[in-house]
Amino acid sequence: MDNVKGTSIRGGLYIGLMSGTSVDGIDAAMVHLRGGYGGLTAKVLAHHAHSWPAALQRRLQAVMAPARARTAEICELNMLTAREFAKAALTLLQKAKIDKSKIIAIGSHGQTICHLPPGGDRTLGSSLQIGDAAMIAALTGITTVGNFRTADMAIGGQGAPLVPLVDQLLWTDDHRSRCIQNIGGIGNVTYIAPRGTVGEIIAFDTGPGNMIIDALVTLTTDGKMTYDRNGKFAAAGRIHKPMLRQLKVLEYFRLCPPKSTGRELFGMPLAIRLWRKYRHIGRNDLLATATELTAWSIAASYQRFLPQVPEETIICGGGAENAFLFSRIKSVLDMIGCHRVRHIEELGMINKAREAMAFAVLAAWTMAGIPGNVPSVTGARHPVVLGAITPAGLTKAATCRC
Ligand SMILES: Nc1ncnc2c1ncn2[C@@H]1O[C@H](COP(=O)(O)OP(=O)(O)O)[C@@H](O)[C@H]1O
Ligand SMILES: [Mg+2]
Repeated sequence: MDNVKGTSIRGGLYIGLMSGTSVDGIDAAMVHLRGGYGGLTAKVLAHHAHSWPAALQRRLQAVMAPARARTAEICELNMLTAREFAKAALTLLQKAKIDKSKIIAIGSHGQTICHLPPGGDRTLGSSLQIGDAAMIAALTGITTVGNFRTADMAIGGQGAPLVPLVDQLLWTDDHRSRCIQNIGGIGNVTYIAPRGTVGEIIAFDTGPGNMIIDALVTLTTDGKMTYDRNGKFAAAGRIHKPMLRQLKVLEYFRLCPPKSTGRELFGMPLAIRLWRKYRHIGRNDLLATATELTAWSIAASYQRFLPQVPEETIICGGGAENAFLFSRIKSVLDMIGCHRVRHIEELGMINKAREAMAFAVLAAWTMAGIPGNVPSVTGARHPVVLGAITPAGLTKAATCRC
């Protein structure tokens, strides 16, 4: 990466679009970027949380169950989701009162519907993010970078996590070792040594974030609720030791990084198995136990896989809004020696904009020919420029010729 250290991006406005494994909505962030690897500055100027239309959200959740996924459905959803990503970007522009001509590019993560990283018997990893970039470019008139994960997978990587380099450049502390702990559907951590270099970054998926919690709430409320708001159910329950023991021995927790995971391991099929076996303990105890698993898996991962317990942990992602989960994480981290745990908004960052912002940065790097992966993190054989660029201009020309 030293050969691109001095390379700068084209400074100016970018939009990042992100929808995570929770499929709770699309986060759109308008970001002003300057610098490159060295001296990167990223300022979020506006954020918009775009809800998935309910019917589309249900179709996306259904297509993630491999046994029920049909090719024609995936094909159509690729375009339908792209239309929502484009709407999210256009609404953001409207909200910020910025003309689209001022935006250099959109970086769109897309919607992951399947993530099968290499490992175990699988030598060739694969991952599918839908939300077609050409459709987004056509509807917004803005050059769009998409399909970020496969370039890393094509050279042996997990294709995830991709945010750690951005984390390291923006959140390194001069004096303290830090973990940035994201709690989306899946939990993932970036460990940054004080004044740490790229080579010192450690990052991986710690296990489930909100995924089992959300699925159990959905199952135990007949779909009337989809998440445990502020952890109210869990706070009223008690940990069921046999269920927690059964979950703690899942192989994923013992695997050494590089590792990444998704709905395939911690999604609805697991929740249904748990619900069937333990429904007699009731909703609150089920949720207290699932919440404890997330907190435990974070602390256990730090003890097992980091060179030291961090001096500070910054919590972000939707799970940071779950007051009970936050308090459990604080408590288990305190027990292993991390006594400083903060919400990312204490550092002046809009929680919901953080990952979308990272994809704006990754798009800027792609456009400048700068690699965005960290091989020691993803397991890829070397640094690589991520993503595929669909220039808005070419999309227009192609339309005219038809
Ligand atoms: N106030 C809250 N209380 C409890 N959980 C919350 C709250 N707000 C968000 N969440 C959780 O955060 C999830 C969304 O988090 P997010 O970081 O967007 O995940 P992803 O990246 O997987 O989409 C929701 O599904 C829900 O479980
Ligand atoms: Mg989300």
